[in-house]
Amino acid sequence: TTPLRLGIAGLGTVGVGVVKILRQKANLLADRAGRPIVITAVSARSRDKDRGVVLSDYAWEDDPVALAKRDDIDVFVELMGGSEGAAKDAMEAALAAGKDVVTANKALLAIHGHALALAAEKADCVIRFEAAVAGGIPVVKALTEGLAGNEISRVMGVMNGSCNYILTRMQSAGLTYDQVFEEASQLGYLEADPNLDVGGVDAGHKLAILSSIAFGTKIDFAGVELEGIQRITIEDIHHAADMGYRIKLLGVAQRTGRGLEQRMSPCLVPADSPLGQLEGGTNMVVLEGDDVGQIVLRGAGAGEGPTASAVLSDIMDIARGTRLATFGKPAEALETARSAVSGTS
Ligand code: NDP
Ligand code: HSE
Repeated sequence: TTPLRLGIAGLGTVGVGVVKILRQKANLLADRAGRPIVITAVSARSRDKDRGVVLSDYAWEDDPVALAKRDDIDVFVELMGGSEGAAKDAMEAALAAGKDVVTANKALLAIHGHALALAAEKADCVIRFEAAVAGGIPVVKALTEGLAGNEISRVMGVMNGSCNYILTRMQSAGLTYDQVFEEASQLGYLEADPNLDVGGVDAGHKLAILSSIAFGTKIDFAGVELEGIQRITIEDIHHAADMGYRIKLLGVAQRTGRGLEQRMSPCLVPADSPLGQLEGGTNMVVLEGDDVGQIVLRGAGAGEGPTASAVLSDIMDIARGTRLATFGKPAEALETARSAVSGTS
């Protein structure tokens, strides 16, 4: 059987997690995929860094674009991050060279997802990105596959592990913002630019991605009304608790008479509700479909193992020959967000 050959760019929290799983579970993955999955080449900024995982078995490329174009890879796995620069250049190069792409990069997809989806279709390639939304929770697959026959009326939830970690630890452990921020950093939850987390931008990227899949619309991150958690004080958290509430960074996307509404902002939720009880880096996504009713997905939204688990699910899809359109339907057929008024689809 023909092995599936991977080139992995980015060997940080997520990339190292993916390499570990591919090394530790090679037999299990090959059994399930029906073919071996092998790493051919890797790339990161620093070749000398000790990453706690053996990399000497793989070719090294300093330049992720060169990695993306290598003849001896079938799939380019982009785990560097950033909406511009190396990640975008390398993903475009991979698609132009006819490689399928797996990424965890919600920032890149939220800004350039539509153009990338068009490029993928033109090249007869797929882009998979389960890890980009809600870490280990398979919410992209829930929407594109499990709920493929439903009209989705609403998507909502807590989609940023760092913010949930910070808000819950400040309250439950009585720690300062700086202390919990450091803990979140140690756990590998934060973006390279943590302002994206606390500013609500990262969660907004994720909501925009889910909206596109759920409502069949062109990704519209600019249309997300955003507010982060930077202005939430420990006093706010305690006042909310005194009244029986918790503060959560909550996202909601739904069709309205004016088009698609997308909001990501701090909200009060009852302390004894499932959302109110969401602790640490956990995420919760609620999906509402006409046939299925309400589905609630809950799990680790960030960190090495959960995020690598999601990346692996995409790699397995490609190894098995699954060829889904990027946002669940052909990119040319995606509506504009404004035309997605209630009752139409
Ligand atoms: P890290 O910052 O831990 O790792 C980034 C890696 O990319 C590093 O190995 C870095 O190299 C490499 N890199 C960065 N820029 C370049 C470049 N120009 N050329 C070559 N290599 C480069 O990030 P994470 O692993 O946390 O995140 C990776 C992606 O996954 C991001 O898109 C992030 O948003 C996403 N994600 C992260 C989650 C998490 O919990 N951490 C969860 C879900 C998604 P070096 O190590 O040498 O500096
Ligand atoms: N920084 C992100 C978070 C990583 O905290 O949720 C997972 O996407």
